[in-house]
Amino acid sequence: MLFFNLILSAAAAVALPLTESPGGKQHQPFSETGLAPWNAGAVTQFSIHSSCNATQRRQIELGLNETIILAEHAKSHILRWRNESDIYKKYFGDSPSMEAIGAFDVVLNGDKKDILFRCDNPDGNCDLEGYAGHWRGENATDETVICDLSYETRRSLSTMCGFGYTVSQSETNTFWASDLLHRLYHVPAIGQNWIDHFADGYEEVVDQAAKNATLSTHDSETLQYFALEVFAYDIAAPGIGCPGAQHEHENADIHDDQTTTEAATTQPTPTTTTTNEPSSTSDVPANCHTHEGGELHCT
Ligand SMILES: *[C@@H]1O[C@H](CO)[C@@H](O)[C@H](O)[C@H]1NC(C)=O
Ligand SMILES: *[C@@H]1O[C@H](CO)[C@@H](O)[C@H](O)[C@H]1NC(C)=O
Ligand SMILES: *[C@@H]1O[C@H](CO)[C@@H](O)[C@H](O)[C@H]1NC(C)=O
Ligand SMILES: *[C@@H]1O[C@H](CO)[C@@H](O)[C@H](O)[C@H]1NC(C)=O
Ligand SMILES: *[C@@H]1O[C@H](CO)[C@@H](O)[C@H](O)[C@H]1NC(C)=O
Ligand SMILES: [Zn+2]
Repeated sequence: MLFFNLILSAAAAVALPLTESPGGKQHQPFSETGLAPWNAGAVTQFSIHSSCNATQRRQIELGLNETIILAEHAKSHILRWRNESDIYKKYFGDSPSMEAIGAFDVVLNGDKKDILFRCDNPDGNCDLEGYAGHWRGENATDETVICDLSYETRRSLSTMCGFGYTVSQSETNTFWASDLLHRLYHVPAIGQNWIDHFADGYEEVVDQAAKNATLSTHDSETLQYFALEVFAYDIAAPGIGCPGAQHEHENADIHDDQTTTEAATTQPTPTTTTTNEPSSTSDVPANCHTHEGGELHCT
């Protein structure tokens, strides 16, 4: 009995949660240990460098906020509709959805430590004609430069489906939201060197989903097109969207007969290196490539 009491009182001493501090305030024992919470130091917002003036900063901030809106909706659409979504099937084929969900979630909830947007053109690439920004690659892998052209041309998501925009016929970089999503996927902390360019442009993206969707859920352009199309269809113009002219491969019957030649030449390469990227031009740095519409990508 004495033994039992000893155990009881020992247990009571441990379990007693409230102690009186000298100042008379009550504390929980575990809050007095001084341990930082598990997520101490979390960085939940992207950083914008001091080289960006007030106008630039505000536009990048708004753009990043819209990137969050775009990614959030893309994730929600997949979670709601699973693979019953026609838009999901169009872009991701028969792929399981976890990877695409994660690719959007990492933008929303991934830690943003060291990820920096700057405006001072440290690598000189903004001087190249047509360049609206670039990932700094080997020079600073967490950093993205936004050039003046972006402020003049990128649009707010609030204009989605306006001014002649269609998903299939317009560039993914029409909007700040999708342009910055793309740029973030180049940053290893977000894209994890796993999201990459396997297909270039709408046609290749839709082809890839139909023929072999394995790469689609970590393909940068596929993720952008999907996010834009579900935003247009669900939010901007509900039930209508602005998909634009549809890829003939959606009609499986005419596909094989009419597009054999095209299909043979546009088969995405399973591994992407800068050397097999399209449309390199002579004024592009050796470690960079351009996409349709003059986007510069550097590795
Ligand atoms: C910021 O820089 C841009 C580009 O140089 C310039 O057009 C704009 O007037 C500047 N804004 C402010 C508030 O200084
Ligand atoms: C962007 O979103 C953050 C967080 O919601 C907000 O504090 C900030 O004011 C927004 N920036 C702009 C330019 O709207
Ligand atoms: C959708 O997922 C289910 C499993 O949850 C699977 O049986 C079905 O074949 C999938 N449909 C398509 C079109 O991928
Ligand atoms: C890195 O810096 C070098 C030297 O300034 C420059 O030539 C190169 O283009 C830069 N790389 C990128 C990806 O901007
Ligand atoms: C699909 O693509 C992946 C990645 O390139 C490749 O490993 C796989 O063999 C392909 N599957 C088919 C059926 O072609
Ligand atoms: Zn890119």
